[in-house]
Amino acid sequence: VNDWTKVEALDDSLANRPVQIRGRAQTIRPVGKKMAFLVVRENGFTVQCLVQAQPDSVSSQMVKFAAALSRESVVDVEGIVSIPAAPIKGATQQVEIQVKKLYCVSRAVPTLPINLEDAARSEVEIEKAIQAGEQLVRVNQDTRLNFRVLDLRTPANQGIFRIQSQVGNAFRQFLLAESFVEIHTPKLIAGSSEGGAAVFRLDYKGHPACLAQSPQLHKQMSICGDFGRVFEIGPVFRAEDSFTHRHLCEFTGLDVEMEIKKHYFEVMDIVDKLFVAIFDSLNQNCKKDLEAVRNQYPFEPLKYLRNTLRLTYEEGIQMLKEVGVEIEPFGDLNTEAERKLGQLVLEKYGTEFYILHRYPLAVRPFYTMPCYDNPEYSNSFDVFIRGEEIISGAQRVHVPEFLEQRAEACDIEVKTISAYIDSFRYGAPPHGGFGVGLERVVMLFCGLNNIRKTSLYPRDPLRIAP
Ligand code: 4AD
Repeated sequence: VNDWTKVEALDDSLANRPVQIRGRAQTIRPVGKKMAFLVVRENGFTVQCLVQAQPDSVSSQMVKFAAALSRESVVDVEGIVSIPAAPIKGATQQVEIQVKKLYCVSRAVPTLPINLEDAARSEVEIEKAIQAGEQLVRVNQDTRLNFRVLDLRTPANQGIFRIQSQVGNAFRQFLLAESFVEIHTPKLIAGSSEGGAAVFRLDYKGHPACLAQSPQLHKQMSICGDFGRVFEIGPVFRAEDSFTHRHLCEFTGLDVEMEIKKHYFEVMDIVDKLFVAIFDSLNQNCKKDLEAVRNQYPFEPLKYLRNTLRLTYEEGIQMLKEVGVEIEPFGDLNTEAERKLGQLVLEKYGTEFYILHRYPLAVRPFYTMPCYDNPEYSNSFDVFIRGEEIISGAQRVHVPEFLEQRAEACDIEVKTISAYIDSFRYGAPPHGGFGVGLERVVMLFCGLNNIRKTSLYPRDPLRIAP
């Protein structure tokens, strides 16, 4: 046999043909001394392989060898495809391989720190199993994260990170088609880009520096550098002290910045079309992955409109007021108020994805453009999925003197961002943009309860490994 067959491709069209596959020994079941069943997994697809002692080809030594394999070892199997008499339970493929040769390419330790069958069960299945008196270990989040490479092998996790990949892919494809240029900005920068305390400070060859809290400054500078529309997919660092289900110390930012002709609504138009395209592409291209996630963590498909709903902040707090939730007119929405508003919006407009805009200036970063008609408000917006923020965006101040004034008013050390402010002194078009948290998009699209589930190797205040 020269070619490798994918487990996914094993079906009755290959009956009686020799094949060669590579995968992991998911389960190993010896039956007496002359026979052993292996279930081999590749990319989430599984096939049953029968190792049976035969005078001319398979020795009983080989059956012994198969029976002694440890779970999750990487194996190469050569054999003949056969159609079983009865349907196969416990494998995705409905053919069997009669094994002729078996090699162990890489042996896993005999006892794994996580039982992958337990790790793949839904809460409902766990409850049922416990009631049925089964010996079962509920694999907690920390254990999963400590042994992340094993945890990643569960079908739900395979689904989550394939969905994440598709979000990035759809984001990039959409923006490239809309004439955006992909850029890569520095992550070692001289001063804080968002202000506030959540900054990792470091020593840069004797000079104080930070890990970028966002590509904010350099994406705007790239607009001054004449790239009319830019985007970036890259790491974002936040020295968060808070322990929440939605904050990480490092996450992946999907950032956009663009010239605008007249109005910050032009930026919201891009958000609107971009996210409808991303959600559509997930629903079309990730059916199997969504199902794998849903099997372990049940959720309802996201409800979104063809034209994304836009409400002003004032309209939002009015809706809250009507149900007895009082918000300071120039304050911010806390997490609870955001959730509540999400519910009200769903009841009234039938969507779980919407834009809230014209926020009070006082709660936005220093670079945010105030509204021309009322400077207590700003040309800014947040975007929500299922009542939680995934995006914040705005038109930016492009007048250097005013920008300097705003930075000082917000306690930003102007000298650390002087190159940024100077870049507006050589002519700068009006512009705006937004930043999206990739892990939050996946978490909320899939109705998951913790951002650590959608970060491959999450960094939080207590975790920097693995
Ligand atoms: O709201 P943020 O801080 O906005 C910015 O960084 C601006 N520069 C964006 C802009 O272009 N105006 O972050 C943007 C998004 C949030 O909406 C959220 O989805 C995500 O990034 N985010 C986090 N995700 C995980 N952990 C954290 N600690 C996050 N902080 C923000």
